[in-house]
Amino acid sequence: MAGPSGLLPGQATESYVPPMHTVDATTEQMIRSVLAYAENRLRLDPVPLDHGSRDPAELDAVTSGLLSEEGHNPDQVLGVYTSMLAPAVISADSPRFLGFIPAAPSKAALLFDMLISCASIQGISWLEAAGAVHAENQVLRLIADRAGLPGSAGGCFVSGGSAGNLSALVVAREMGKRKGNADGRRWRVAVGTEAHSSIINTLRILEMDALTVQADDHRLTGAGLHAAIDADGDPSSIAAVVATSGTTNAGIVDDLAGVAAVARDVGLWFHVDGAYGGAGLFAPSIRHKYDGIEHADSFVVDPHKWMFAPFDCAALVYRDPSAARSVHTQDASYLDVIHDKPAEWNPTDYAYHLTRRARGLPLWFSLAVHGVKAYTNAIEAALTLARETAAEIRARPYLELIREPDLAVVLFRRLGWVSQQYRQWADQLLHDQVAFIPPSAWEGETVARFAFLHPHTSMDLVREILNRMA
Ligand SMILES: Cc1ncc(COP(=O)(O)O)c(C=O)c1O
Repeated sequence: MAGPSGLLPGQATESYVPPMHTVDATTEQMIRSVLAYAENRLRLDPVPLDHGSRDPAELDAVTSGLLSEEGHNPDQVLGVYTSMLAPAVISADSPRFLGFIPAAPSKAALLFDMLISCASIQGISWLEAAGAVHAENQVLRLIADRAGLPGSAGGCFVSGGSAGNLSALVVAREMGKRKGNADGRRWRVAVGTEAHSSIINTLRILEMDALTVQADDHRLTGAGLHAAIDADGDPSSIAAVVATSGTTNAGIVDDLAGVAAVARDVGLWFHVDGAYGGAGLFAPSIRHKYDGIEHADSFVVDPHKWMFAPFDCAALVYRDPSAARSVHTQDASYLDVIHDKPAEWNPTDYAYHLTRRARGLPLWFSLAVHGVKAYTNAIEAALTLARETAAEIRARPYLELIREPDLAVVLFRRLGWVSQQYRQWADQLLHDQVAFIPPSAWEGETVARFAFLHPHTSMDLVREILNRMA
C-alpha cells in the first residue's frame, strides 16, 4: 500500500533529508504529513480492530536498511509506518477490543498528549515545570478526594500500575525497616490469591516474599487476612498488605474495609492496587464496594485504563507523602537546587523515577473539557453492559456465568468446550474483525472473558459474539 507521498515502502526517493532542529521546506512537508496521519487516526470513529501478530520476516523486509548512516525521505519512512507497521497492531482503543484490559482514550486526551509530546516538558520538579505539576496535582487531588484520602495526600503520575505498585511497596518496605521489626530477615507482604502479577514481580525485585492469603471466592477479606496472620509463625516480618480494587481477571474488589481494619490493628502498610478498577470510585452504582479505601497508605489507579487517558498514565497517591519523599528523593549535587524550597512539589520525590513526561496533563485537559460527569457516565456505561451481558449469558442454556460481575469483567464458560475450541472461536472472531476476545482461565479451566471498558461497545456486538458459541 502506498504511503501519503504515493511511495511504496522501500522505493528509492531523492536523498534530501531535513535538518534535525530547524524548519525548512522538507520539515514543513513532514509536519503536514505526520499531522495529517495523526488527524486521520484521531477522526476514526469507530477505531477499527486491525490484526496484531505478523511474521517478523515480513516486517523485516520493509524496515531493513531504514536505520542506516544516511537518512531517508520522511514521507518514505512514514509510508512504511502507515502501510506496514501501523496495521500490524491491534487497536486497544477499538470498541471491539474486549481482551486483557482495553483502552478508550478520549479524543481530547489524545490531542493534548500530542501537544505534550511537542512541548518537551521535563516533569521532574516544580522548578522546571510548576505549571504542569500544578495541573497534574489537581487531578491527583480529584482522585484522592474520591477515595476519601486526607487533604495532605499526594503523589505523582508514573508510567503504569506496575511502576506505581513498585514505588509504593518500596516505601512500605522502608517504613517496616524503620520500625526495626525484621532485622536481617526477608520482609513479607500479605497478598490475595488474585493479586496482579506486577505485585509478585515487585516482591521479587525488592527481595520480599508473599504471604498468600487464601480466600473464599478469590476475594481477600479482613477475616482471611486476620486468620493468615494468626496462623503465621513470623508476623513481625510482614511489612504490608496489598488489596486489589478490581482484580484483572475477574474484576473482584477485595474487602477493603476489612483489610484496612486488620492492617491498622497489626500496623501494616495498606496498599490498594486499583490499576484497573480504581476508576470505579467515580461510578455511584458501585462506589460502596470501595468503602475502606480511605484508609489506604498508598493507592494506584491507571487512567490509561478506565479513565480514558492515553498510554502511559498511572496515578500514585500516598496518604502521607512525606514518607514517600523520605524514601524516593534522589540525592545529587546537581539536584540540590530543586530541593531549596521544601514547600515545592517535585514529582521525582514520590516514585523511583527522575526524568518523566507530564503524563497527567492529557487527563487534566480531558477532565476539564468534558467534566467529571462525562467520566462517570462513560464508566457506568461499561458497568451496565457487563450487567446486561451477565443476564444474556444466564438466558442462554449453552453458556454458564462464572460469577456475578463486580465491575465490567464478565467470566463465563461455554458448556462442553475444551481449550482448543475457545482458541478457535477467539481466532475466528479476530480474523473476521468482529472482536479481540482471547480466552482466559478460572481455577485451572479455560473460560471466556469479556473486559468491557469502551463506552461504545454495544450489546449487539456482545450477542454476535455469544451467537458464535452456539
Ligand atoms: C490490578 C492491576 N494491577 C497492576 C496492573 C499493571 O498495570 P500496568 O500494565 O499499567 O503496569 C494491572 C494491569 O492490567 C492491573 O490490572
